[in-house]
Amino acid sequence: MVRKTLIAGNWKMNGHIEDGVAHAKGVALEVKKAARKDCEVLICPPFTLLMAAKKAIKGSKVQLGAQDCHFDLKGAHTGDISPLMLKDLGCQYVIVGHSERRTDHGETNELIAKKAYSAIEAGLKVIICIGETEKERDENKTIEVCTAQIMGSVPSNSTAQNTVIAYEPVWAIGTGKTPTAEDVEEVHASIRKVIAKKLGRANANKMRILYGGSMKPSNAKELLALEDVDGGLIGGASLKVADFTAIIESSKQ
Ligand code: 13P
Repeated sequence: MVRKTLIAGNWKMNGHIEDGVAHAKGVALEVKKAARKDCEVLICPPFTLLMAAKKAIKGSKVQLGAQDCHFDLKGAHTGDISPLMLKDLGCQYVIVGHSERRTDHGETNELIAKKAYSAIEAGLKVIICIGETEKERDENKTIEVCTAQIMGSVPSNSTAQNTVIAYEPVWAIGTGKTPTAEDVEEVHASIRKVIAKKLGRANANKMRILYGGSMKPSNAKELLALEDVDGGLIGGASLKVADFTAIIESSKQ
């Protein structure tokens, strides 16, 4: 089963116009030069940089995504951004359910499913994030937690074409710690089984499952080579053009 690798950079709350534009241009330039041609590359800058980043990557294959959206397509929601607005702006993707939003904003699986449903309706692809905390891992609840998060936050209109799952163990985000390759493969394989239960075997076989959490040039090759790892969602290392492109170059064909 060939699934097209996706390497996505989540810039989180980083970047102002000038350095953000320079960074997006740098990524576009390096991706053009990269030997690894047949993988999808995505950058997800903060809302304030989306328009400028769109101009900066114009003409390159780098795609644009946002880090969150509201579940309504329009209306009285002060401070929120709708998926239709993101589509209008030129985004192809939106991340939903990142653990930082689950923690900082108390987002539940139910809310995340509503956001993802509506983003898909608006014509966006969604990256739905899941992952266990350190405590849950220590209690051997990783598979149980990830299963519940998939069952609860993947919406009914999800298909392999419009949905990507990102497995991001919370304890691995920004810490420099990663699970072993065996652990990552075990969780990814179990995610695919749960997707099969929820959306059917055909969708499960084709759906991309990314790994995220302290992915960097030194560990990317091993993680991205795993059978059920179809790309990466990269935080810190996506803020350095050289590191981000090194990860792209080490992804499997
Ligand atoms: P780091 O790569 O900085 O650990 O962040 C991962 C992440 O949260 C991507 O969404």
